[in-house]
Amino acid sequence: MEEKKDSLALGCPNSVGVEKTRVNQERLDSKVKRVQNTNMTGQRYILHIALVIILGSNYIWAIDPFSTIVGIGSSLISLRCKIEECCDDSWIVNNFTKLHLSFYDLFGQHIAADVVTNALKAHLRTDIQPRKALTLSFHGKQGTGKTFVSELIVDSMFFMGAKSSFIHFFMARKHFPLEREADVYKMQLVEWIRGNVSLCERSVFVFDEVNKIPKGVLNAIKPFLDYHPIIDGVDYRKAIFIFLSNVGSTEISNKLLEFWQNGTQREQLKLHHFENLIKLGAFNQDGGFHENEAIESDLIDHYVPFLPLEKSHVTQCIIAEFKRRKMPIPSTSIIEEVMEDLTFGPEPYNLYSYTGCKRVSPKSAKVIQKIYDFD
Ligand SMILES: *[C@@H]1O[C@H](CO)[C@@H](O)[C@H](O)[C@H]1NC(C)=O
Ligand SMILES: *[C@@H]1O[C@H](CO)[C@@H](O)[C@H](O)[C@H]1NC(C)=O
Ligand SMILES: *[C@@H]1O[C@H](CO)[C@@H](O)[C@H](O)[C@H]1NC(C)=O
Repeated sequence: MEEKKDSLALGCPNSVGVEKTRVNQERLDSKVKRVQNTNMTGQRYILHIALVIILGSNYIWAIDPFSTIVGIGSSLISLRCKIEECCDDSWIVNNFTKLHLSFYDLFGQHIAADVVTNALKAHLRTDIQPRKALTLSFHGKQGTGKTFVSELIVDSMFFMGAKSSFIHFFMARKHFPLEREADVYKMQLVEWIRGNVSLCERSVFVFDEVNKIPKGVLNAIKPFLDYHPIIDGVDYRKAIFIFLSNVGSTEISNKLLEFWQNGTQREQLKLHHFENLIKLGAFNQDGGFHENEAIESDLIDHYVPFLPLEKSHVTQCIIAEFKRRKMPIPSTSIIEEVMEDLTFGPEPYNLYSYTGCKRVSPKSAKVIQKIYDFD
């Protein structure tokens, strides 16, 4: 679990996310504490009392034993779900207010914020059954906020945030390290997804560094992304799949630069300016997406570009980082000092940070230490 946390704790936008997770954690702790006050035997005790009450009312037995048994069953389940995470609305909260507010901590990604919010809202509507699982593919250089946004999604959907047992985070180098094991990974992945979706239809699967996943592995999950209503008794249509990669990031940068050169405002750019570009790049580049059948048959719903960050965005990250460290808002010269260590490219304009906001946190820490000389 801790490991999952760490992998999410990258760079500037993410550090704000970690802060949130901490708050979430406190909320969770208090919930757990409340439960623990009556803990161990307490939990059983509650169930026991409930049973006595239900069984005790034996006149109900006389009326309708069948529905009484069903009633007892569902009472027990609903009691359990007060204590343990269940696949229901009290734990899967889908808080869009929260999602909306947390996007204020994401800098320079108006397209991603817009696409993700609308796609999620549409998918999670309670009045319409989605026709297929939601599949989002995030593309961009490191430090542009891909992991951060996946964390925001999870945090706003689940009461338990990233600790929810319904979110599954796959890291290429950890879960799928060996090219020659691709066939084993395929089988494993199918089992995991089937197993987890059977437990909760609203499971979320995040695949990090897709470009490092051995070629072909992701073809195994194609049936789950498709428009099949039900496969072997399991309905995958409410699930969400999120893919993260740097595939296509060079194409995104070049395109953005082109627009900049002819004077188009960054904020005016739309998803359609980038989507095909990314799709082609992903399909042709080596790695998890290479000649991927899901891409070929258009099963990925949205290819979301994460644009390279400019100085002004990195400045926002630095200010946010100072705030997080409870420091006064930094002056222009201090901001410049933090920025000195970051590289911008490509020549000759040097508009975009090579590492996005990723290295802002340690660089800020260093400058703060120097200025305030903490012991
Ligand atoms: C949704 O999130 C907002 C902002 O974090 C919070 O104030 C509100 O209580 C949450 N709503 C629910 C139902 O959890
Ligand atoms: C759910 O996925 C995890 C990997 O995240 C796996 O270890 C576990 O076995 C899966 N559960 C089921 C019931 O298949
Ligand atoms: C600017 O360049 C883009 C990309 O080449 C092009 O699609 C767009 O029409 C151009 N806009 C103007 C105003 O020239």
